[in-house]
Amino acid sequence: MHSLFKKRRSVRKFTDQEVSEEQIKEILSAAMVAPSGNHKCPWEFVVVKDKNVLKKLSKVGMWTGFVSKSSVSIVITAKPSDSDMWVQDCSLVAGHIYLESTNQGLGCCWGNVKGKDSQEGRKEKSVRKILNIPGEYRVLCIMAIGYPKNEVIPHSEEAYKEEKIHREVW
Ligand SMILES: Cc1cc2nc3c(=O)[nH]c(=O)nc-3n(C[C@H](O)[C@H](O)[C@H](O)COP(=O)(O)O)c2cc1C
Repeated sequence: MHSLFKKRRSVRKFTDQEVSEEQIKEILSAAMVAPSGNHKCPWEFVVVKDKNVLKKLSKVGMWTGFVSKSSVSIVITAKPSDSDMWVQDCSLVAGHIYLESTNQGLGCCWGNVKGKDSQEGRKEKSVRKILNIPGEYRVLCIMAIGYPKNEVIPHSEEAYKEEKIHREVW
């Protein structure tokens, strides 16, 4: 397995070092080559670097506090009327963002704006309001990116669990 996959961890503590525009473009380029159902590519991104806005975004959920310390956060959005597979497409985009960030020696973490209850609407609505995102767009998540503050411990061989695998039939 390519070591990039093992190196990819969710990083929630960042230094003050800035992520450059070139780096952000590379990350977005990686995002935009993600596979997409019917090749609809319904995603649109909001790139946020403004510390005040990052702070507001960090408060939308219980577990999104780390967004405030990111150098840049990429909010992944899509219009469901463009594709009924927007969640799948945008999730793969998020995976590419994770991996390209890791590839550049950066840290990244998914900030959730979804929820199992009525909170979901509230969180998404907050993000839409903060970023002036049109109402017909849905928000999948906030990808916070920055230079890792601490050493990032890669995944070990133990992540592989034979018991999770059913061969030929369940
Ligand atoms: C759908 C999804 C939602 C997540 N939401 C959050 C979140 O809101 N806050 C957070 O700190 N981490 C979040 N994470 C990161 C997970 O906690 C992390 O991927 C998991 O603990 C495994 O760690 P690893 O990414 O380092 O392998 C999310 C990850 C996924 C895939």
